[in-house]
Amino acid sequence: TLRSVILGTGSALPRRRVDNAELAQTVDTSDEWIVERTGIRARYIAGEGETTTTLALGAARNALDMAQVDASEIDLIILATATPDQTFPASATTVQAGLGINDCVAFDVAAVCSGFLYALTIADNMLRGGAARTALVIGAETFTRILDWEDRATCVLFGDGAGAVVLRAERTDARTGRGILASRLHADGRYNGLLNVDGGPSTTGTVGKVRMKGQDVFRHAVVNLAQVMTEVLTAVDLKASDVDWVVPHQANARILDATARKLGLDPSRVVVTVDQHANTSAASVPLALDTAVRDGRIKRGDLVVLEAMGGGFTWGAAVLRY
Ligand code: ACO
Repeated sequence: TLRSVILGTGSALPRRRVDNAELAQTVDTSDEWIVERTGIRARYIAGEGETTTTLALGAARNALDMAQVDASEIDLIILATATPDQTFPASATTVQAGLGINDCVAFDVAAVCSGFLYALTIADNMLRGGAARTALVIGAETFTRILDWEDRATCVLFGDGAGAVVLRAERTDARTGRGILASRLHADGRYNGLLNVDGGPSTTGTVGKVRMKGQDVFRHAVVNLAQVMTEVLTAVDLKASDVDWVVPHQANARILDATARKLGLDPSRVVVTVDQHANTSAASVPLALDTAVRDGRIKRGDLVVLEAMGGGFTWGAAVLRY
């Protein structure tokens, strides 16, 4: 069977780490409140010279290194982001130029926190369909640039960063082979109002700030994530107990716990980085994946489920043999 195999992962974080205590010096909040409600202890905040594409480039280079793939072999770049460097061109083309690739397919995907799952699914379909052979799929964000620092209920939740994978179409054994086995995506635009940015090029002509109804988002997240994970596992005849690792979108430790409980997943099988990175939107899944690959938790042949949910709402999951 022709499958998209992850040859390498990479990630990048801004230089500056800000813990809750430091944040509490400028925002009316406390370490205790943030840890109890979200599990977040620190986040990274992009500084001068750091943008979505500089972080994306860093993550891409790390992934290419691990994969031992030369940039010239990349014929597809998909960058998931809600915080591009510019309204246009697509930040994927800035990353492409930074890698010295003069001709390949390159575009951005906007699905906010689910962006990486969307980008991965598109890349997987293009690779298996023959439109490309070796892809860079990146999630990169600088959400701290679109936060309202006066809104303590949202500004404490987010951080900046990037993660990337190198994918290649390879013939593998249908039963035991590596690669993406299945993925499922959803969107329901009736919920636009619960989580959005209050500006844009075609409405206000401004960039806008993040707005969120936290409790409503929380309730929908647990239901949608449990549903889509069940769906993707059922599609390939697997059960929650077959899964070696779940790499979830890192929004909130309570969402991760509640979703794991709903599915009967062993919490020790869930990769958690939200404590150190906070919510990095489209970057969070590949950032957590790279963390667990590099610290030796995720090994070749492990069955891994990726999942995310975000503004739109959009949500999705993928199951792969690493
Ligand atoms: N520090 C201290 N107090 C705060 C803070 C803060 N940072 N933020 C809010 N409060 C106060 C509120 O003012 C309120 O005080 P009041 O009772 O005196 O009015 C009190 O805390 C409770 O506020 P709620 O908003 O009801 O708090 P809640 O328990 O719902 O927690 C939270 C808020 C953490 C945002 C929660 O709703 C949540 O986790 N939602 C999920 C949202 C999410 O993770 N979104 C990410 C994007 S979508 C995704 O990725 C899935």
